[in-house]
Amino acid sequence: MSEHSETTEDRQPADDEVVFHKVCRSGQVPEGYVRRFYVDELECAVARLKGKAYATSNYCTHLDCLLSSGKLQDDGIRCSCHGSVFELEGGEPIYPPATAPIAVYQVKEEEGEVYVGVSRKDIEHGGPRRKKPRE
Ligand code: FES
Repeated sequence: MSEHSETTEDRQPADDEVVFHKVCRSGQVPEGYVRRFYVDELECAVARLKGKAYATSNYCTHLDCLLSSGKLQDDGIRCSCHGSVFELEGGEPIYPPATAPIAVYQVKEEEGEVYVGVSRKDIEHGGPRRKKPRE
């Protein structure tokens, strides 16, 4: 499932200023699940593990498989393609073949809504990689 976000601010933020965007209701990411959402062009995976919500890039750093198709396990998120596991707090790879961390974003939950905090730079670098390869 995917949804487009609503921004919490109307003014234009600086490129590196983190702005929180509402991406979903808390109930849309139940314990042990990971879902895909968008903040503008940025595609992120929102997961809930041990009650806490996390947001990361939706792209595995190994070969770009979608982490929203993966599974959560005790220590992080496992990519469904080749089994890489990433820690959710900092995005570090904790099981190969991936060796580079995934991008992680701030998350807050208020009144049953999940907000993901990203900057304009995050959005520029987290867009649909298959459609717009990185330079
Ligand atoms: S693409 Fe994720 S482990 Fe290979």
